[in-house]
Amino acid sequence: MKLRRMKIINDCIYETIISSYGPDKKPNAAPFGVIFKNSKIFHIFFYKGSITLSNLVFSKCGVVNITHDIELFYRTAFEDYDDFDVKRPLFQKAEYINAPLIASADFNLEFIVDEIKEENFKTLMVCRIVKIKKNTDAEVQPYTRGFFAALESIIHSTRIKHFFKEGNNAEAEKLIRLIVHYREVARRVSPDSIYVKIIEKLMKRFNTWGRASASKN
Ligand SMILES: Cc1cc2nc3c(=O)[nH]c(=O)nc-3n(C[C@H](O)[C@H](O)[C@H](O)COP(=O)(O)O)c2cc1C
Repeated sequence: MKLRRMKIINDCIYETIISSYGPDKKPNAAPFGVIFKNSKIFHIFFYKGSITLSNLVFSKCGVVNITHDIELFYRTAFEDYDDFDVKRPLFQKAEYINAPLIASADFNLEFIVDEIKEENFKTLMVCRIVKIKKNTDAEVQPYTRGFFAALESIIHSTRIKHFFKEGNNAEAEKLIRLIVHYREVARRVSPDSIYVKIIEKLMKRFNTWGRASASKN
């Protein structure tokens, strides 16, 4: 079993939606970050108090749903499942484990919980994938904030270059502060990744552009 057709970087946080049953068999779904350690094992860090955490402690199994549907993130974060009617139900029963899956997701990763540990006020779950259901022929890259941080930084850098050229250092510095923030985000969610490397490369360019601008004025 392989995470084929998914471009995964190990140790990078990917934003997904986890579905699970409660003790009363009520299906639940909410967004959570998952960190792949290899092709079978991934980690989830839970803050206290979510329904998903107590469901998984109880049932020891669930489904990671990989999607780019932003409405699905919004609705599941705030339990607004109302718009999913009977003709287009949100949940289906998973194949191998006792959990619901989201049929409209690109991938459903059915998993069991191998280990639960308490770490710095958070609960770490070590999970093992037991079945992968692929609902698309496309190659899918699960969403990571590292990608977003790098792309935003590239976009801002094109403006920074322009502002330095015009001698508008104040505007350039404003955007550089945003990029410093994006570098922190990328380092936290995707350490040592291509995303961090790209942002660091951009930041080296700012010094060159800044010096060129200073020598003109
Ligand atoms: C994109 C995204 C990622 C999230 N990742 C986590 C996470 O990794 N750990 C966590 O405890 N909460 C995370 N949350 C917050 C939970 O989704 C939120 O607390 C949710 O209301 C829990 O719902 P539940 O009580 O139905 O499980 C995340 C939220 C979003 C929008």
